[in-house]
Amino acid sequence: MKDIRLNSVLLAIDDNPTNLKLLDRVLSAKGYKNIHLVDDSRKSVATYLELKPDLILLDINMPHMDGFEVMEALFALDEQSIPPIIVISAQHSTETTLKALKNGARDYVTKPFEKSELLMRVQNLLDAHLAHKLLKDQAQVLEEMVANRTRELHQTRLSIVQRLGMAAEYRDEETGNHILRMSHMCKLLAELLGWNERDCDLILNASPMHDIGKIGIPDAILLKPGPLNEQEWKIMQQHTSIGAKLLEGDNSDLMQMAQRIAHCHHEKWDGSGYPQGLKNDQIPIEARITTIADVFDALTSVRPYKEAWSVEKACKQIEDSSGSHFDPELVKLFLANIEKMVAIKQQFQD
Ligand code: C2E
Ligand code: SIN
Ligand code: SIN
Ligand code: FE
Ligand code: FE
Repeated sequence: MKDIRLNSVLLAIDDNPTNLKLLDRVLSAKGYKNIHLVDDSRKSVATYLELKPDLILLDINMPHMDGFEVMEALFALDEQSIPPIIVISAQHSTETTLKALKNGARDYVTKPFEKSELLMRVQNLLDAHLAHKLLKDQAQVLEEMVANRTRELHQTRLSIVQRLGMAAEYRDEETGNHILRMSHMCKLLAELLGWNERDCDLILNASPMHDIGKIGIPDAILLKPGPLNEQEWKIMQQHTSIGAKLLEGDNSDLMQMAQRIAHCHHEKWDGSGYPQGLKNDQIPIEARITTIADVFDALTSVRPYKEAWSVEKACKQIEDSSGSHFDPELVKLFLANIEKMVAIKQQFQD
């Protein structure tokens, strides 16, 4: 059977070449394939960084830099995990042993060492280290998988949302770039209100679904060239509740905002709108924003049942409906920035 321990990278640091050769021989005989020998302890840190060994065998008494100093330098690296260190020293004193262990050595062997004992200690420490590494790698892999899946889900959701918005627009062909225009106007209003970037993007992506419920309205009504009778109008109004039903139950901020917008974009500031007759700030802010952008674009566009109005006429209508249909604060903001709104209209002209 293959022993994965034998592929471990072992680093032996000792100023005495004879000792190094002995270690090399003992470890090679056991089957270890990646043994690296360093006889100048000043090269310890550089060699460690280059090889990232799984285990270090370290002499204590060395010129220039003794074993304690080597350990100190290694631990000062602020590495995630320094591999286990076995100190191999000719010094038998308990004091040295303790000092080595206290300074980070995981085990201690005295020279001359018993071959089988050294090999057993090497094997034990490698087992512990490999298990630890495996767990850490696994945690990292899992973390990456979760991050990737989250990104993917976000992308999928965004793409579904955009397709849904397009589906609603598809039958209502005359509206053309309506959802592009109104969603960018919504985003601009949100920016003018001082929303953060993330929320501005949310409304940009959520508002295109405001009329998704229109997929539940028969063509005979949706595409009727003239005014709707009372019964048709009742059915037409249901596009808000239908949209809300379609979008409900998802826990993402995006879908929840889209749901509120679909449900409430025909509510009016004075409470005379539908489907719930909400008033003032009972109406979610994102729906109030969508209302004004939606109506402005509907007024200035051709519909099966109406001609396109001029920007001036549409602005007059919006101003006159401030406080009745629309949130007066938003009307002020909208009209004060009418040039930017018109620029968006031109950017996405049918
Ligand atoms: P839409 O055509 O996209 O219009 C969105 C909103 O813009 C309307 O919501 C309304 O508030 C405003 N709006 C659009 N055209 C006019 C207009 O000529 N005058 C005024 N004052 N406001 C206008 P509303 O009224 O709740 O209608 C919702 C949707 O119902 C409309 O979306 C449209 O799809 C349909 N609809 C409304 N009225 C008629 C109609 O007379 N005939 C047909 N075939 N559909 C209609
Ligand atoms: C905001 O006010 O910045 C966001 C409002 C919302 O998410 O509904
Ligand atoms: C549209 O036709 O996309 C807008 C109409 C509405 O908001 O109901
Ligand atoms: Fe609508
Ligand atoms: Fe609309």
